[in-house]
Amino acid sequence: MSQWTALTSQLRDRLQAALTAWPAGSHPGSPPLTGQPDRPYATRLLEEWLAHDPAAPSHPTDRRFIIQEILDDVFGLGPLEPWLRDPTISEIMVNGTQAVYLERAGKLFRADSSFEDERQLRRVIERIVTPVGRRVDEAHPLCDARLSSGARVNVVLPPLAIDGPAVTIRKFTEQRLSLEMLIQRQTLSEAMAAFLRGCLLLRKNLVVSGGTGSGKTTFLNVLSGQIPNDERIITIEDAAELKLQQPHVVRLESRSPNAEGQGTITLRQLVINALRMRPDRIIVGECRGAEALDMLQAMNTGHDGSLTTVHANAPREALARIETMALMAGLDLPLRALREQVRGAIHLIAHLARFADGTRRVVSVTQVTGMEGEILTTQELFRYRQTGVDSQGQVLGQFEATGVIPTFLEEFRTRGIPLNLPWFHR
Ligand SMILES: Nc1ncnc2c1ncn2[C@@H]1O[C@H](COP(=O)(O)OP(=O)(O)OP(=O)(O)O)[C@@H](O)[C@H]1O
Ligand SMILES: [Mg+2]
Repeated sequence: MSQWTALTSQLRDRLQAALTAWPAGSHPGSPPLTGQPDRPYATRLLEEWLAHDPAAPSHPTDRRFIIQEILDDVFGLGPLEPWLRDPTISEIMVNGTQAVYLERAGKLFRADSSFEDERQLRRVIERIVTPVGRRVDEAHPLCDARLSSGARVNVVLPPLAIDGPAVTIRKFTEQRLSLEMLIQRQTLSEAMAAFLRGCLLLRKNLVVSGGTGSGKTTFLNVLSGQIPNDERIITIEDAAELKLQQPHVVRLESRSPNAEGQGTITLRQLVINALRMRPDRIIVGECRGAEALDMLQAMNTGHDGSLTTVHANAPREALARIETMALMAGLDLPLRALREQVRGAIHLIAHLARFADGTRRVVSVTQVTGMEGEILTTQELFRYRQTGVDSQGQVLGQFEATGVIPTFLEEFRTRGIPLNLPWFHR
């Protein structure tokens, strides 16, 4: 479509001028000024202008394409709009003005999109961060934000991003996922799902761990769907990604500093505050710093049934990470005391991994059983065993129980929660 670049750019400037001047007066060839200077109005203006422009393409498809491109730029996120609309795209990565990468079905590829110049890219970034009260500029070159669709956005500006602004957008499928759907997709086995569902009803504290993009947030969302409707749930996040279905939910979001470097509200402050809000459950979207300590204390003091995610490459590493993060709180706790807190607070770890074929799976469900000396003890209950890769590159393998029975099995019985011993048989 590059043959229309000049026309597109000229019409865009004209539209911008017309919208800025709204409702000051009529423009040559413009329809009567009715309604709002919104998308439908702009569409009518552009159609009108194109109809009278000898340089305009005659084919309606080409005209629609030009109009779409201008509207995307003036009202939306420019060249990113087609990808935001495309439900099969799960991630959009902008590396400066010239390279846009996409993820579809777990696979990365380069898009044939680019930005005209850095000004256009900066305009898109402004449009993302301003509505959610964030700012990003030379003084604050790192920023987390989210789109109204719920997509999570991270921005890094130069000079930190050496080759131009870097924008990473994690879209979430509009489709509501359920545990059943995850079983169908082979993210976990039926036995694992039934067991975890029971653990949530038993108010076990659960940590979802995994590497970047392994599906932690998605899984946390699905698991939280199992929380009974009559409980008061408080969610705490840096950029709200969780979408709980329950009626009684309070969503809290941390805040970055304003232009004067003031007004920061950390996850940690929100966790402490949440304790005064009579929560039945606290869900911390992603635990990544000192808030780990307050979360452990909350879990240890009657806020059972809390959930969080942690970035880690193995279940045991998740425990070590939580320990390290809790130390960041700067309280001079002896290591042993801290581990006692971890032991008391965390009952289970569900660990996820992303496979070469783009699939995500719960590769381990591990129980924290106690301590021996200064060492936390764990036992794996379920795991995924990869056996190979088929000719199409699809990962082959199976979920299996390890044969180990969780120590709190009796609680299933006393609480009348469905339990099937064969879940745990090898
Ligand atoms: N069970 C699944 N099966 C297939 N794709 C999935 C699954 N879970 C998540 N995804 C996809 O993987 C991507 C990452 O998901 P998600 O945001 O949940 O991961 P994450 O581990 O929280 O990532 P991060 O470390 O960046 O926070 C998303 O595009 C999502 O649609
Ligand atoms: Mg996440």
